[in-house]
Amino acid sequence: MINIQQFRKTIFIETYGCAMNEYDTELVKSILVKENYTFVQNELEADIVMLNTCAIREHAHRKIYGRVHEIRNNRKKLLKVNKYDKSKQSDEPLIGILGCMATNLRTELLENKNLDIDFIAGPDSYKRLPQLIEEAMGTGDKQFDLTLSEFETYSDVLPIRKEGVNAWIATSRGCNNFCTFCVVPYTRGRERSRSVSNIIEEVKLLAGEGFKQVTLLGQNVNSYNDGQADFADLLDAVSGVNGIRRIRFTSPHPKDFPDKLLDVVAQNPKVCKQIHLPLQAGNNRILDVMNRNYTQEEFLALVDKVRHKIPDAALSTDIIVGFPTETDAEFEDTFKVMKQAEFDQAFIFKYSERKGTVASKKYPDDVSEEKKTERTMTLNNLQKEVMFKKNCAHIGQRLELLIEDATNPETANYKPGRTDTNKLVILPIGDYRTGDFITAEITDATPHALKGVQTNILSS
Ligand code: SAH
Ligand code: SF4
Ligand code: F3S
Repeated sequence: MINIQQFRKTIFIETYGCAMNEYDTELVKSILVKENYTFVQNELEADIVMLNTCAIREHAHRKIYGRVHEIRNNRKKLLKVNKYDKSKQSDEPLIGILGCMATNLRTELLENKNLDIDFIAGPDSYKRLPQLIEEAMGTGDKQFDLTLSEFETYSDVLPIRKEGVNAWIATSRGCNNFCTFCVVPYTRGRERSRSVSNIIEEVKLLAGEGFKQVTLLGQNVNSYNDGQADFADLLDAVSGVNGIRRIRFTSPHPKDFPDKLLDVVAQNPKVCKQIHLPLQAGNNRILDVMNRNYTQEEFLALVDKVRHKIPDAALSTDIIVGFPTETDAEFEDTFKVMKQAEFDQAFIFKYSERKGTVASKKYPDDVSEEKKTERTMTLNNLQKEVMFKKNCAHIGQRLELLIEDATNPETANYKPGRTDTNKLVILPIGDYRTGDFITAEITDATPHALKGVQTNILSS
């Protein structure tokens, strides 16, 4: 039973899934810090452990189940060690599940006795976290709020962000597309946009704090509409903020790229020449049963138009292999489209049946695991060749780079830079700091990165 005499206020939070979830963790921190909670780096020091979860594929769920058991076991071990040292007394932590898995699995999570979760909150309920935590502690009863809102955009919450060159900023939340494989419309509810003025206010603050880049986030970021402005207008407005040098956006849908938007990407120097075009599949029947709202021909025409309007643009994509009923011949269409489009990057996923989706109700998951693996390997091999060829074409070029933080300790001997097109350039340690813009000559390439040497510092 939880001791309510002494209110426990330290939290450890771990984030899974997409950039929107990373951003949501920053919102959650802001909401709870205001209520005098403190965030700690070590789970063993925390009174409360929260996992901000993802539900996009089954693998994401399994990871969380494993992690909850691990958290409890780690704490049990510590409690054993501390048993005879009264100064080091620590209790079992309260465990909370946030994010998409919370709304996807709902009360099942609370009813699972093995997991013994104390509270769960969906993506639109984070303002209620202080109350949920207090009630879970005070009563010892499990608490939850999974309400999805048509209005919540957290536009009145200023996230507590990590330092660095890039700041995430959600410009819309939720999704109305209902791709038949996808759980997001159910876990995050209907699409809603923040107002341009509210977004600009925050971007100005970010520029003042020294952020060089903002990444605009939405589940369908380019269908943004605040009633007056569309996504192209929003990009132009954000580019008007002094101090912000690069603007990125993710994730767009191929159906929402009118010429007006492509022209802004082409002509506005602050908007990065990098476009994510999630293809998902190259076959028209499969695209139709996925409810993607475009055909192979329309997709390829869009790729051509992008290449024509923005010749330097880098294109990336997401692919799902083994959607129910996908035949070998239909998979070949995906291969063909990928070969023709020559993406600079591709994320290839095996279809994973998700609870509550149209696909899970209408089509049995009938493509074997072996087939899915084989198709994934085929596409990954193709993609590796394309990326190597494209990266080699940069050798000898001089490119502008933004110096980023070295996040990977294995690259402690190098400094990472990013091109406007989002390519990673490995630089030797030099006289430049995170946040500097430099030009570098590209000296070598692998399928996944470029190597370069600095030619001059542009500015910081
Ligand atoms: N809003 C984003 C989607 C985020 S999910 C967008 O539309 O681009 C990222 C990717 O995960 C999707 O593009 C899709 O390729 C993949 N994905 C989504 N649901 C999946 C499922 N059920 N099985 C396998 N991959 C899936
Ligand atoms: Fe999911 Fe489709 Fe919405 Fe992307 S656009 S979040 S894939 S439903
Ligand atoms: Fe996962 Fe939810 Fe993002 S399902 S990918 S955390 S929107």
